[in-house]
Amino acid sequence: MSLPENPPPQISQSSTDSKNIPMRSLLICANLRHLRFALFFSLFYSLLAAAADIPLLRIEGEPAADPFSPAWLKQAPVAVALYPQVSVPPAAKTGKSSVKVRAQRGATTLALHLEWADRKPAKQRRIGAFADAAAVQWPQRPQAELPFIGMGHRGAPVTLWFWRADGTAELLAAEGFGTLTKQSDAGVLARGKWKNGLWRVVLSRAVEPSPESWPVAFALWNGEGGERGGVKRLSAWQTLRFGGPGTTGKAMLPGNAARGKRLMSERGCAACHSYPGNPTQPTQLTIGPDLTYAGGLHAPAYLEESLREPSKIVLPCRSCFVEQNGQRISIMPPFEGSEKDRTDLLSYLRSLR
Ligand code: HEC
Repeated sequence: MSLPENPPPQISQSSTDSKNIPMRSLLICANLRHLRFALFFSLFYSLLAAAADIPLLRIEGEPAADPFSPAWLKQAPVAVALYPQVSVPPAAKTGKSSVKVRAQRGATTLALHLEWADRKPAKQRRIGAFADAAAVQWPQRPQAELPFIGMGHRGAPVTLWFWRADGTAELLAAEGFGTLTKQSDAGVLARGKWKNGLWRVVLSRAVEPSPESWPVAFALWNGEGGERGGVKRLSAWQTLRFGGPGTTGKAMLPGNAARGKRLMSERGCAACHSYPGNPTQPTQLTIGPDLTYAGGLHAPAYLEESLREPSKIVLPCRSCFVEQNGQRISIMPPFEGSEKDRTDLLSYLRSLR
């Protein structure tokens, strides 16, 4: 699958074309058994995740470039929750918000329509002033393990379609916090318009025929509020899906979240992490990341992995890791305890949203 990484390709509906790349990804997985395990895990958990399904509407011709076009506005949007980035300093200081998303697939392009409330637009960048911006994030290998939501992680890169209110439209790639690079092949078209307290933005790119579904995530920056770079609001991974109405897969969470919360204190998590009602609330971002929105932002498989293998994805916060032989080792001890304790802790973490 090459939606985000390839240059605007020739569109062909032949089945060999669309099967080529997934086959390659599957072969990679076959070589690395743990990846296959990770794939199973993320698929299994993505069924339970509370992320929204965004239906992708197939249309004749191409999606409208004008974000206020009735061709867009008559389509029902899906509301996606956004959380302030608080994992790594500097943290965003806003609360929860949301963005409305519509998606269309034309003959050659895929387009996403984002809509959000903003009382006052910030269109220009000057010294000390920032412009409003939005990004759509894709895993470069959607068949493999889901990348870390904050710009991917080593071995799991992401591609971003970036729009900024000063007229910028860019294709970016990243493989973890602080690794953002501009791609030479632009190919992203983006157009935004602000009216009556609403931003509406269309981002589009030529893509090859699509598989059934893609993971996708969103980020917004409010320039007026000083948001830029890592100071942003972001969503969890969502699923862009062909056909069918949007559904929100809220399933029963296994485990006992109330008991999980008590375990946070008993098992020492409370000493390093802040979360609502933590009796020992450490100063924000001094030891471990703030977990206030952990369940809203992170895929359940990622939370599970954070407990099992904290050093697999290490956040670049100052006090989060020590260097050993050039490797970053998380200061968080791997969780060792009963299966019940683990399930209850995860149940509590997932309820944080
Ligand atoms: C000694 C301090 C410490 C303790 C104790 C600790 N953690 Fe952590 N935790 C961290 C640090 C530092 C990170 C970030 C580095 C990393 O990715 O491992 C982290 C990362 C996490 C993450 C991923 C958060 C994100 O935003 O990516 C979760 C979830 C988590 N911890 C949960 C727990 C739970 C549950 C416990 C108790 C069983 C616990 N932690 C105990 C320090 C700690």
